[in-house]
Amino acid sequence: MIGVFDSGLGGLSVLSAVRSALPGADLVYLADTAHLPYGAKSDAFIRARVLAIGRHLAGLGCGTIVVACNTATAAAVGALRSEHPRLSVVGVEPGIKPAAASTRSGRIAVLATESTAKSAGLARLIRDHAAHATVDVVACPGWATHIEKLDLDDPLLAAEVAAKVLPLLAAGVDRLVLGCTHYSFLAPLLEPLIAGRAELVDVALPVARQVVRLRGEGRHRSGRLELLATDRPERLDAALPALGLNWLTAPGSGPARWVEI
Ligand code: DGL
Repeated sequence: MIGVFDSGLGGLSVLSAVRSALPGADLVYLADTAHLPYGAKSDAFIRARVLAIGRHLAGLGCGTIVVACNTATAAAVGALRSEHPRLSVVGVEPGIKPAAASTRSGRIAVLATESTAKSAGLARLIRDHAAHATVDVVACPGWATHIEKLDLDDPLLAAEVAAKVLPLLAAGVDRLVLGCTHYSFLAPLLEPLIAGRAELVDVALPVARQVVRLRGEGRHRSGRLELLATDRPERLDAALPALGLNWLTAPGSGPARWVEI
């Protein structure tokens, strides 16, 4: 079984890529909605949550755990791997490498939570893969919370997104890295803004490929999906149709369940 988790809905963008890559795998998705947003929390707090969730998923029998959250990966993927050396742990890091490799203008930007924006992990990625490029690191406080409310048509959100992105385009940015899994759901807002000037870089597909590599494609089970949330699980059920992800639920799968972790 593969466990995928995030603070909330963002990891569903990774879950859908994993489901497409492994249609028969048994999946469990856990949204730590009692503690979101992670992006405004301390590293110590995020680490404690990641380790607690890791223990829960391991206890459910997950052999692979996908940390479908850039913030949690930056703060705690190492600690999670150390605690579970026998499990395959896959993290999500902003796509600095593909952005830096494909930019034509030499200027890329990464949109991320406050925590990821100031993380050592992001600084290392930039040092290792984008030394030849100019990288704008842009913290986007509040965006994940907006997305959690599923008010993606809110003109206030559109204005906020435009206010961050248009100056980057004017400065010559031609690759916009989505450094938070929630921001995948802003693609319908972002695409028309950047059309013809920049491309979005989302790592959901490469992450799913990494999951396939680590566990092999042969051990498929029944294709079950279990949805868990630490607060208001019904919001997870409501999010699937709102985000166009109803296809994720397998026939016979029940509603999302509350878990105390
Ligand atoms: N989806 C998460 C990420 O990729 C974090 C969102 C949040 O809880 O702040 O960083």
